[in-house]
Amino acid sequence: MRVLSGIQPTGRFHWGNYFGAIKQYIDLQDAHDGYYFIADLHALTTIREPDVLRGYVRDAALDLLALGLNPERATLFVQSDIPEVSQLCWLLMTGAPLGLLERCHAYKDKASKGLRADVGLFTYPILMAADILAYDSNWVPVGEDQVQHIEVCRDLARSFNAHFGEVFIMPEAKIVPGAAKVPGTDGEKMSKSYDNTLALFGDPKELRKKIMRISTDSRPMEDAKDPETDHLFQLYRLFASEERIGEVSAIYWKGGFGYGDIKKRLADAAEIYLEPARKRRLDLENDPARVQEILSQGAAKAREAASNVLQRAQKACGLK
Ligand code: TYM
Repeated sequence: MRVLSGIQPTGRFHWGNYFGAIKQYIDLQDAHDGYYFIADLHALTTIREPDVLRGYVRDAALDLLALGLNPERATLFVQSDIPEVSQLCWLLMTGAPLGLLERCHAYKDKASKGLRADVGLFTYPILMAADILAYDSNWVPVGEDQVQHIEVCRDLARSFNAHFGEVFIMPEAKIVPGAAKVPGTDGEKMSKSYDNTLALFGDPKELRKKIMRISTDSRPMEDAKDPETDHLFQLYRLFASEERIGEVSAIYWKGGFGYGDIKKRLADAAEIYLEPARKRRLDLENDPARVQEILSQGAAKAREAASNVLQRAQKACGLK
């Protein structure tokens, strides 16, 4: 299967990015043909400082490689290195109904709050559709928040195919039950825009402090609790072994425990889990030429795939 996904370099990656998406990239890379990219064109809808954007792109590449994305197995590249995608985006824009985009949540949420939303944000899902369709992708591993965009992509592909002939392959979203909507420190979806994230890399002491500040309910300590309804437990489950999960689940059902103890267990488990990636990242930081080479090779391979699809689409609609 051709597997493709993108991630925006709009800040440091968090646990939601990892368990919802990046872990899937890595789990799928051995058995499938993975194409993964850093979505810098999408990031321009929010990051307007050139040096900041460049820094985030570099961090994104380091983070993905350190977390286990293997360039021998999967193709890693930067979105803007593939101009064919922007060309394909235009072909999809012609014929895209306004109403379809007006329903998309990123634009709708901003507009409903009276915030300035530009055309880039409005057409964002079409660029995302071009990203997906340009590589004949079958599966798109993402978190739940991106499923609507993949539906838009399918709609656009379907109507293009109906009008011009079978050009595009129909992609499917791939989500992981239990990690499709990782909660943040306040129990809402973990997201940079809610300021409730827990970072994958960064100062371990800071991370521990943030974990200790995760919000919890005010039920009495002695009450038995259903772990499934608690976001602290949901976070713990992402890092712990089956055995430990069973142990902590039993503690919840029994009652008489303090959330502080669970937070400490979570901090310990996360630290152990992330330590190998942290070490790999330090090594990679010292080898920027290697990272650049991986991205250049990835871009060359991705361009080849995208230009085939672009030519197919251009021919179909009468441009060639
Ligand atoms: P982005 O950069 O916001 O997020 C990257 C990936 O992380 C997932 N994610 C989460 N998953 C579970 N729980 C959470 N709390 C959580 N927060 C984020 C997202 O679902 C996503 O999979 N538009 C995309 C980037 C993109 C793309 C594409 C993705 C551009 N082109 C083509 C797939 C295919 C975005 O903004 O993701």
